[in-house]
Amino acid sequence: MVDPYAGRPYTVLNCCMSLDGYLDDSAEQRLVLSGPADLDRVDQLRADSDAILVGAATVRSDNPRLLVRDPARVQERLAAGRPAGPVKVTVTGLAKLDPEADFFTAGDVDALVYCASETVPAAEEALGALATVVDCGRPVRMRRLVEDLHARGVRRLLVEGGGTVLSQFLADGLADELQVAVAPFFVGDRGARRFVDDGAYPWTAARRARLAETRVLDDVVLLRYALSDRFEAEG
Ligand SMILES: NC(=O)c1ccc[n+]([C@@H]2O[C@H](COP(=O)([O-])OP(=O)(O)OC[C@H]3O[C@@H](n4cnc5c(N)ncnc54)[C@H](OP(=O)(O)O)[C@@H]3O)[C@@H](O)[C@H]2O)c1
Repeated sequence: MVDPYAGRPYTVLNCCMSLDGYLDDSAEQRLVLSGPADLDRVDQLRADSDAILVGAATVRSDNPRLLVRDPARVQERLAAGRPAGPVKVTVTGLAKLDPEADFFTAGDVDALVYCASETVPAAEEALGALATVVDCGRPVRMRRLVEDLHARGVRRLLVEGGGTVLSQFLADGLADELQVAVAPFFVGDRGARRFVDDGAYPWTAARRARLAETRVLDDVVLLRYALSDRFEAEG
């Protein structure tokens, strides 16, 4: 029988959203949605992963470090012969990324930049000394990206956003698991970034996702959904 998951890493999507489904507000400064207990949950997810993916817009707006924070978790990885943290991965069409961004400079881990074919030369020139630039075709398809990650040895991928990237993984049926933390307030600003874009998603009123777990983390609630048959074995 053909394995529908062959050549793809087990993929966990994670985000924290407001009660009205926003990932951020419109202000320049990053909106804090999560709390300490939820951040610790995300740190464990990172420690369990081989790679973390965020979209280029998140690299530009949030300047995330994407490192494992807890020294005990770092030690555990090192003792198991793994790198201190997951490989950092981003995807871009424009390839307009600041080489000084923490994505490139923080921590002693590898970084991969998946680019649309036309911007590979520009990305190589600006970022080639700091990261491996990968030609991901035109247009970039997430399926191709995850298959390339798998070929590089990534067996467990954590996708941390933003909404554009999460939307593609969900619409393309590439997610095995979704972890959404819900923060107890509203953003109420239609100009802000929503969790997902409009689109056709595999989970509808007629095909409901399976809620596998709920967890209270201070005033944030985690909703954990099993999105594929792999969840039971690998989740
Ligand atoms: N609350 C949370 O958990 C959370 C987590 C992460 C992010 N966020 C928030 O989400 C917002 C950013 O989300 P976003 O949806 O605007 O952006 P995003 O998903 O972070 O990144 C989108 C960018 O990624 C690149 N990209 C994505 N798919 C591509 C494809 N198929 N081909 C080529 N390039 C592709 C493009 O980069 P180029 O523009 O470079 O071409 C695109 O503009 C920020 O406000 C951030 O704070 C919140």
